[in-house]
Amino acid sequence: MDAIQIYGGNCPEGQIKIQGSKNAVLPILAATLLIDGTCEIKNCPIISDVHHMLRLMESLCCTINRKGHTLTIDAACLSRCDMPSDSVSVMRSSIMLLGALLARTGSVSMQYPGGCVIGQRPIDLHLQGLRKMGVIIEEKEDGFSAEAVRLTGAVHRLPFVSVGATENLLLAAVLAQGDTVIENAAREPEITALCDFLNTAGADIEGAGTNRILIHGVKKLHAISYRIPSDRVVAGTYLAACLCCGGEVFLKDAPGRQIVSVIKAAAAMGARIYESEDGIQVACRERRKMIPLLQTDSYPGFPTDLQSAFLAAMTLADGEGALQETIFENRFRIVPQLQKMGADIVCRDNTVYVKGRRKLHGAVLQAQELRGGAALVLAGSAAEGTTVVCNRHFIERGYEDICKDLGEIGIRCKKIDYREYNG
Ligand code: UD1
Repeated sequence: MDAIQIYGGNCPEGQIKIQGSKNAVLPILAATLLIDGTCEIKNCPIISDVHHMLRLMESLCCTINRKGHTLTIDAACLSRCDMPSDSVSVMRSSIMLLGALLARTGSVSMQYPGGCVIGQRPIDLHLQGLRKMGVIIEEKEDGFSAEAVRLTGAVHRLPFVSVGATENLLLAAVLAQGDTVIENAAREPEITALCDFLNTAGADIEGAGTNRILIHGVKKLHAISYRIPSDRVVAGTYLAACLCCGGEVFLKDAPGRQIVSVIKAAAAMGARIYESEDGIQVACRERRKMIPLLQTDSYPGFPTDLQSAFLAAMTLADGEGALQETIFENRFRIVPQLQKMGADIVCRDNTVYVKGRRKLHGAVLQAQELRGGAALVLAGSAAEGTTVVCNRHFIERGYEDICKDLGEIGIRCKKIDYREYNG
């Protein structure tokens, strides 16, 4: 079984370069399906979610070349519109291809998408919105088919903020006939990156980064070269590593302006943070203080994707506090794992109540999803003794090489096969 072994008791020092953003690159890859010509994508993270997305796109007859962190994608030959079920079922972002494929081919059939098991994660908002744009959707038990002679602009008012639905409707709207409005749109930086990519390619989108996006449909997009911005969640994860262990690290290329709420939470725990043009310096020299109540929210609030990393840090802070999850209903799967390490935490409904402890101890743990898995590695870095986090593949969905990155700041960890581990 794939795993990560961590030797605890670290005091990080040094620098980590932050990789390109997973949540930005996935919808941008979907957007290349809309473009005539060969696009170049730079700073693409080498992670398994990207690998699955590229496999899916190749199965649709896109031509893709990869050299390190640079990709070229030519969707000129795109022909198939039925997606292979194995790739769709492992990755929720496969749903992102729906809007773009409908715009290109007018017909798609696919299974319901998979992804991290952090809640129900339905796609009703995506499908409702597309129906409004003239798509006929037939839902079956395990998947659906969608057909549209022509996509037409529409006014959408999302009942609650959804990053994925905002992205899918954007992708369907850029080449649609007429104007589309998305009200109560998500404001996440990844939406802004997608709009930036599309506008550079000739789309006409206004209001990216606000809760009202207006898309004037255009006839055609053209090929461009685009650099994927740095990953704010990875930056926040390594910032939390410093909160867990203490020490001082520089997060090169960390997008400070995109993690204001995270920096605020870290500062409330006693971290000193210095922002500059090329990254963020984090110093945690004293014992961390507890946050009385930390709540997740849609952007610019505290990101749900960093909730588990901060929970790991809070288990080791001074005092008592609580962490409330407001976006996903099942995102506290690491609680029993942290309890195995001696964390004094209890989960009631959507809130975890934390009594900070001075120490955690090493244990053999099970990662069950991407961000929770990374948080367990952080907890292991700070704990006494050795920790093993099994199911490394969940972490590899979003982190290029967490062992190498943490190794850069002196945290001792390595990839192992758990069957060969003997304590
Ligand atoms: C995206 C991010 C994910 C992040 C999440 C919230 C990517 C690849 N993933 O996920 O990392 O945690 O935003 O910031 O960018 N919902 C519905 N119906 C729908 C769509 C969503 O009920 O049709 C619900 C979800 O169950 C959830 C909430 O809306 O409770 C937010 O989900 P959404 O913002 O859509 O998350 P994702 O796009 O899946």
